[in-house]
Amino acid sequence: AGGSAAAAPERETWTSSTGFILAAVGSAVGLGNIWRFPGVAYESGGGAFLIPYLVALLTAGIPILFLDYAVGHRYRGAAPLSYRRMARPAEALGWFQIVLSFVIAVYYAAVIAWSLSYFVFAFDLRWGEDTAAFFVGEYLQVGEPGISTTLVSGVAVPLVLVWAAVLVIIALGVTKGVQRVNIIFIPLLVLAFGGLVVRALTLPGAADGLNALFTPDWAALADPAVWIAAYSQIFFSLSIAFGIMVTYASYQRRRANMTSSGLVVAFANSSFEILAGIGVFATLGFLAHQQATTIDQLEGLSGPILSFVTFPAVISEMPGGAVFGAVFFGALVLAGFTSIISILLGVAASVQEKFGLTHRTAAVTVCVVCSVISIGLFSTTSGLIALDTVDQWANNVGIVVSAIAMTVLIVWVFRTAPVLRAHLNRVSTFRVGRVWVVLVGGLAPVVLTTMLVQRVRTLVT
Ligand code: PHE
Repeated sequence: AGGSAAAAPERETWTSSTGFILAAVGSAVGLGNIWRFPGVAYESGGGAFLIPYLVALLTAGIPILFLDYAVGHRYRGAAPLSYRRMARPAEALGWFQIVLSFVIAVYYAAVIAWSLSYFVFAFDLRWGEDTAAFFVGEYLQVGEPGISTTLVSGVAVPLVLVWAAVLVIIALGVTKGVQRVNIIFIPLLVLAFGGLVVRALTLPGAADGLNALFTPDWAALADPAVWIAAYSQIFFSLSIAFGIMVTYASYQRRRANMTSSGLVVAFANSSFEILAGIGVFATLGFLAHQQATTIDQLEGLSGPILSFVTFPAVISEMPGGAVFGAVFFGALVLAGFTSIISILLGVAASVQEKFGLTHRTAAVTVCVVCSVISIGLFSTTSGLIALDTVDQWANNVGIVVSAIAMTVLIVWVFRTAPVLRAHLNRVSTFRVGRVWVVLVGGLAPVVLTTMLVQRVRTLVT
C-alpha cells in the first residue's frame, strides 16, 4: 500500500463502538439539523417534504454512509489515502472531497462564532427591539452592498476563540481530543435540546407552528428543486460524500460492527433533525400567536435570518426568554463544534498521511491555514454575502458532484463495490445485500445527475 502511513506508529482508534458512534453522531448532528433543516422543510412543501426526505435517506443517505464507512474501515486512511489504496487514481476524489470540507469549515466556523456571541447576548437580551437592525447593522455591520474589508471586532473575537478551541482538540488527537469532546457534548446537547423542545411545546400557539411545518403541500413533490433540497440536506446532515466519514471509520477498530453503527447514526441524526423542526416551529407558532398573525405571514423563516433575527425576536417576547435563548444558542455551539472538529480531523489526517508529518504538526498547520482564511473572510463586513454564495455552491452543487463522482468511480470505473460489500458483511451483523450496489451504482448517480443539471441551470440564470 502507498503513502507514508506505513511507517507511522500504530493507528489511533476510538476506544469503543460507543466512542465511534458518539463521534459520528457528533459530526452528523450540527448546524445543518438546527439551523438549516427546519427552514428548508418549511419552504420545500412542509409535511410533504418528509417524503423526498425519507426517500433520499433510504435510497442514498444510508447506502452512501455505508460506502464511506466501508472505504475508510477497509483501507485505513483518511479519504485521499484510502481511495489511493483502493485504486491509485482515485486519490484525486479524496482530495476533491477534502477541499469541499475545507470550504465548508471556513463558513461553518463563522456561524458557530455568531452563535457564541448570541449565547452571551441572550443573558440580557442585548439584541433589543429591532433584531434585524441589530444583527445586520450593529453586529455584522453590513454596510453598502459589495465586498468590503472593514474588520468587525465583535465577530473576529468569537471567531478566533472557536478556531483556537478547534486547534487544541484536533492537536490532542482522536481519543484524547475528538472522542472526549463528543462524550461530553453529545449527551449535554440532547438534554439541552430536549428541554428546549418541551418548553417550546408548552408555549401558546405551539400547535399552529407544528401545523405550519407539517401541513403537506403535495404540489411541491412535482418540483425538482424540492427533491434536490432533500438530497442535499441528507448529504450535508449525515456528513457523507465529504471524505469525513471515511476518516472517522478509518480510526475504528478492525473488528467493528460498521453497518449497525451506521444505522444508529443515521436514525439518531434524522430523529434529532425532526425534533429540531418541531422545536423551532413550535417556537415560531408562539411568535405568530403573540403578533396575532399566522406563520405564513411571518418573514425570515430560513437561513441565518431564522436563527439570528427571527429567533431573538421570539425569545424577547417569551417569559424566561433569557434562559431559553442561552440554551438555544448554547445548543447551536455544541452541535456546531462537534461537527467542525470532524471536518478538521479529516483534513488534518489527509495532510498528515500525504506528507508523512506527525499528527500534531499536521493538525496545527491545517487549523492555522483554515482559520486565517475563515477569519479573513468572515470578520469583515461582507461575511453575510460570502456565506450565502458559498453555501449555495458548496452544498447544493459541490456535494452532489462529489456523490456522483464517488458512486460512479467506485462502482463502474474501479469496480470495487463487491470487495467493499464483502468487507462490510465480514465485520457487521446487519448485512448489506446486492440491492446496496444497485442503489449506490444505479439509482443514486442517475437521480443525482438529473438534479445537478437542474440546479446548475437555476444557479447560473
Ligand atoms: N453534518 C453537519 C451538519 O449537519 C455538517 C457537516 C458536513 C459536518 C460535512 C461534517 C462534514 O451540520
